[in-house]
Amino acid sequence: MSLFKILGLAIRDPARFKVLIDAIKGTQLYANIVVARALQAQLNKVAELPEKKIALEEFMQQNNFRNKSLLLELLALLEKDGFVKIKKDDFVILKKQIVEEELKKREKKVAPIVLDAFEAFGDYTERALIERLEGVPPASFDSNELRVLWNVALRGDFYTIQRRDALNFAQLDKLAKRNQNQPIRILDFGCGSGEGTIQILTFLREKNIPHNLEACDISEGLLEIAAEDEALEEDIYFFNYKERKPKEGYYDAIFISQVLHWPDDPVQMVSDLKSYLKENGILFGVQSTFSKRLYQIDLFIRLLGAKGFPEEKEFYRWFEENDMNVRFDPATYTFLATKKK
Ligand SMILES: C[S@@+](CC[C@H](N)C(=O)[O-])C[C@H]1O[C@@H](n2cnc3c(N)ncnc32)[C@H](O)[C@@H]1O
Repeated sequence: MSLFKILGLAIRDPARFKVLIDAIKGTQLYANIVVARALQAQLNKVAELPEKKIALEEFMQQNNFRNKSLLLELLALLEKDGFVKIKKDDFVILKKQIVEEELKKREKKVAPIVLDAFEAFGDYTERALIERLEGVPPASFDSNELRVLWNVALRGDFYTIQRRDALNFAQLDKLAKRNQNQPIRILDFGCGSGEGTIQILTFLREKNIPHNLEACDISEGLLEIAAEDEALEEDIYFFNYKERKPKEGYYDAIFISQVLHWPDDPVQMVSDLKSYLKENGILFGVQSTFSKRLYQIDLFIRLLGAKGFPEEKEFYRWFEENDMNVRFDPATYTFLATKKK
């Protein structure tokens, strides 16, 4: 099903298809490089041992690692790249050393759309990876370093193109007509540093859709960037979701892009969002679902504290349990949900 949709996209919009393939291949390649870099020093020590071999437990003890399942996940990635070979309880280094030169060579093959969004995250992710192996919990979006990195990533084409697809998918002009050209009330939920909110605003203006645009997030740090960078001269009301909840039955549309894989209970989040919608309101946006092709990006966001992408079936469950219909395009990860009548 998903493959057919992707092939459909290749026929319908070859340029968008190329971006999709570049993004998928690039994130796979880049995440593997980050993993190799993060574990370079530890693995190169093993490479110096006579048999280039070490028991997993010993390797964990030496490096103060506590999270064995994550270590095995990371070693499996390095195995595919030909750096190590995992045996039952130990692993062997296949190369003499992991050298920076080789990683740099690989990095040259990563598409710009991926580097633009994620290169800034490189050092941070390497550190985060070691911390997760040590059992240290992730920092919140509010931490100064992280919010700046997210701001860079969310500005890039990687996210912008996904949000554009979702805005087109939702056919907001039809919604506006149904509203008899009364301003549509729209909320950007989990707006981060506001790049998506500005994108919505520009879209509504270009389409001449009358609107009242609001945006909220739980990250005070990201909201600060939104207010400083974007919102000052713009007609958008930003608020902190921790301090204020939206009105029930109020919005014509709620946009939510790459947020639902962060909370502990996405079914509850969908339920809350549904309650803020008018009877005919729509909930739409972007939500990646898990597949082998997205494994590396899923790993990357888990290292940063997300719960991980849902399987497609799981994604549908979030809406079914809330008595909502949902249409989902697995090629672009855009979706549109409405209340069941
Ligand atoms: C990957 S960012 C996406 C930001 C934005 N939607 C965009 O597309 O640019 C995920 C955002 O979800 C927000 N978030 C995570 N959990 C949330 C929650 N429980 N309620 C509201 N926002 C949340 C984070 O603070 C962060 O800004």
